[in-house]
Amino acid sequence: MITLFKNIKELIQVRNETISFVSGKNMNVLPTIKNAYLLVENGIIADFGSMSNLKSMDADEVIDATGKMILPTWCDSHTHLVYSGNRESEFVDRIKGLSYQEIANKGGGILNSAKKLQETSEDNLYEQSKVRLEEVIRLGTGAIEIKSGYGLTLESELKMLRVIKRLKENYTVPIKATFLGAHAVPSEFKNNKEGYIKLLIEEVLPQVAQQKLAEYMDVFCEKGYFSVEDTERILQAGKKYGLTPKIHVNQFNSIGGVQAGVKYKALSVDHLEEMTNEDIEALKNTKTMPVALPGCSYFLSIPYTPARKMIDAGLPLALATDYNPGSSPSGNMNFVVSAASVKMKMTPEEAINAVTINGAYAMGLEKEVGSITVGKRANIILTKPINSYGFIPYSFGNPQIESVYISGKKIG
Ligand code: NIG
Ligand code: FE
Repeated sequence: MITLFKNIKELIQVRNETISFVSGKNMNVLPTIKNAYLLVENGIIADFGSMSNLKSMDADEVIDATGKMILPTWCDSHTHLVYSGNRESEFVDRIKGLSYQEIANKGGGILNSAKKLQETSEDNLYEQSKVRLEEVIRLGTGAIEIKSGYGLTLESELKMLRVIKRLKENYTVPIKATFLGAHAVPSEFKNNKEGYIKLLIEEVLPQVAQQKLAEYMDVFCEKGYFSVEDTERILQAGKKYGLTPKIHVNQFNSIGGVQAGVKYKALSVDHLEEMTNEDIEALKNTKTMPVALPGCSYFLSIPYTPARKMIDAGLPLALATDYNPGSSPSGNMNFVVSAASVKMKMTPEEAINAVTINGAYAMGLEKEVGSITVGKRANIILTKPINSYGFIPYSFGNPQIESVYISGKKIG
């Protein structure tokens, strides 16, 4: 099956050379071709270029993209989209003045979601989760990472990971699974964190690895959750099973989690709302991608990751949704692009690089997705007629997407 997209007003994020990610000043460079064509063969990008170089050819399908743009789909490298129910009542409590941490201390928060998930059947959890996955694909997400971490028991963590596995089997978007058993200390272990860490290391991790249920592992390294020492122990244990870290750090406090991530060669360190100069220094010249989650900052009214300072210091940055019921109940990457521009002062070029090539790197998918490159999957967004790609962050809340193609197939 050959599909030709022709007369594309601008083809965005075109990369001939193989790059892993962009950083510093290069984040402000977004390579594009105006008046372009794109050729998709059997779900893979086969060719692209300027319309003036298009040779006459027989395509099975020709799509005239006059006035419209094409970009690679968004790469959402941090989500918790497998969850049960919602936490709308906590949201109302926060409106009335309680903080996220106060709600968690009262037994709400992650433990509230864990209770709901433990009581939900695997089939029902799958049904709830697939609705969210389908919704974010329609919003332009074409590769996604999903974490466990609302199970907090051996059975329920495995249940979550099996649901992620089933999503992988039934959908063609690339999905990466992350084991986040160390998301919170469950109430049964309230005064025995050590017991829970032991359970994770000695019982849950070996099962996750043996059943090949995760590519990555995560720890919520934060005051009141897991210390740097706990984090290092858990990462060390996971490394033995070949699980690469992608960790939650510096959401509320800078306690050394960034340095622990770098030490354990984390693929990414995520959140980073609180960043000291030392944290920024620690990330320089490493292969660890910093990931900012502006949806969480928006929803919890906490600081935004200091993107400007980090990019100006030469770092790369990826952006993701953190889609979860407590701190960011939205998987809309279009909002993320916009919030990054409006609230974090990222240019449209920087924001688009952060949600495409850098997002792909943050989940180990940079060879498959994240740019318009021959040989990569044809996971692409066809925009509505727009004047420039800067209109995407500008028109916040109004996605400029006309259609989404996954492996060359139109969705919906
Ligand atoms: O990334 N901070 C830790 N975990 C999630 C939120 C979990 C929740 O509130 O349910 C996050 O923000
Ligand atoms: Fe998260």
